[in-house]
Amino acid sequence: MSGKKAQLTIGDQNIDLPIYSGSVGPDVIDVKEVLARGYFTYDPGFMATAACESKITFIDGDQGILLHRGYPIEQLATQSTYEEVCYLLLNGELPDKAQMENFSSSIRHHTMVNEQLQFFYRGFRRDAHPMAVMCGVVGALSAFYHDSLDIRNPEHRRVSAIRLIAKMPTIAAMCYKYSVGQPFVYPRDELDYSSNFLRMMFATPCADYEVNPVLAKAMDRIFILHADHEQNASTSTVRMAGSTDANPFACIAAGIAALWGPSHGGANEAVLRMLAEIGSVDHVESFVRRVKDKSDSTKLMGFGHRVYKNFDPRAKVMKQTCDEVLSALGIDDPMLELAMKLEEIALKDDYFVSRKLYPNVDFYSGIILKAIGIPLNLFTVIFALGRTPGWIAHWQEMISNPYKIARPRQLYTGNTQRDYVAPSAR
Ligand code: ACO
Repeated sequence: MSGKKAQLTIGDQNIDLPIYSGSVGPDVIDVKEVLARGYFTYDPGFMATAACESKITFIDGDQGILLHRGYPIEQLATQSTYEEVCYLLLNGELPDKAQMENFSSSIRHHTMVNEQLQFFYRGFRRDAHPMAVMCGVVGALSAFYHDSLDIRNPEHRRVSAIRLIAKMPTIAAMCYKYSVGQPFVYPRDELDYSSNFLRMMFATPCADYEVNPVLAKAMDRIFILHADHEQNASTSTVRMAGSTDANPFACIAAGIAALWGPSHGGANEAVLRMLAEIGSVDHVESFVRRVKDKSDSTKLMGFGHRVYKNFDPRAKVMKQTCDEVLSALGIDDPMLELAMKLEEIALKDDYFVSRKLYPNVDFYSGIILKAIGIPLNLFTVIFALGRTPGWIAHWQEMISNPYKIARPRQLYTGNTQRDYVAPSAR
């Protein structure tokens, strides 16, 4: 509590509303008292609503700052590893050597999935979108661990977190293998997290896959850049599902479903489809004209963000990683040239400048994923894999503190009470 108060006057009623200060960021006004006075607050899309208290991630959208447990994303992306960031998000502190070894070894211990799980894949069409398969398969994990899971028991929650982080690469790679009709590849304990994922994606029983360390590092960095982003749509979905005390694997499946949309995690796939549609730098200007035309629903995918009204700090690291990967592989991708031209024009154009639209994390990630050999329809699966520790950290934080079932209210504008009319009388 900050000691400050906001005063709300409704007719002749004066309502004092307490103001709370966080460690950094805007103060929040506690509006609970308005309910006692017979009112709801109205904020569609939660534009101005802090739905919870959290210690995990801080974003300053105007300054382009993203901190996980206080550490800037630029430092984590360039100096840490994804596994270490997972530990940090879940536990609040960077691990010492022994803690890190213990965490990594627990993850390695849980990378395999129950053999029975492969039959869930076989129930899908081979051309099913991998995000549909991910939702189904991750949700199905709840059937394997429901009875042995007491969400009130911190040790049970810890094991669920490890299971999810460990199994997501296996499940994601199995989505790919199933879609191309190749046998599933089992995880290998001697490989690091990202190398293991790449090998499960690209090895076959006929030929092993030698992991290129540049690609493994880029993959790891992409996972770090997606690891958490405070109360975004999918994380809020996980919290909301979790607030009913639902099984955590089912809650993560709900988060995956929310992530899939092109306004959220589906944007990385949409960016490459957009670049392919534009086709050449000669068409960039006409495409930008279409984006600006309000009678046309075309959007510049990979641009804009609900919170960042300045550069997305993840996009900066992503762009740098993109340059590194393409030059290490000697790839000259015309898509990169196209993306850069698009960015250059948009950053100068008053339409984008006045609306504070900048490239977001998805603008360059697709070009790197393409260079690594990840197929387009798997891009959002990569995002889901990377975001898993964030989802679990938020679920954990909620469950281990006092919470209430999430239950928004509404401004009802439908019919008032009326009497049922029998079919014969309509
Ligand atoms: N292209 C063109 N115009 C845009 C774009 C865009 N990418 N983004 C926003 N605008 C315009 C809107 O049309 C609106 O214009 P108006 O004021 O004339 O009506 C104005 O900018 C404000 O945009 P809102 O839609 O109100 O912003 P909001 O915060 O609700 O949306 C969102 C944010 C959904 C990310 C939006 O910018 C968008 O759709 N971007 C493209 C999809 C994308 O890249 N999503 C990934 C987001 S990052 C992530 O989830 C990992």
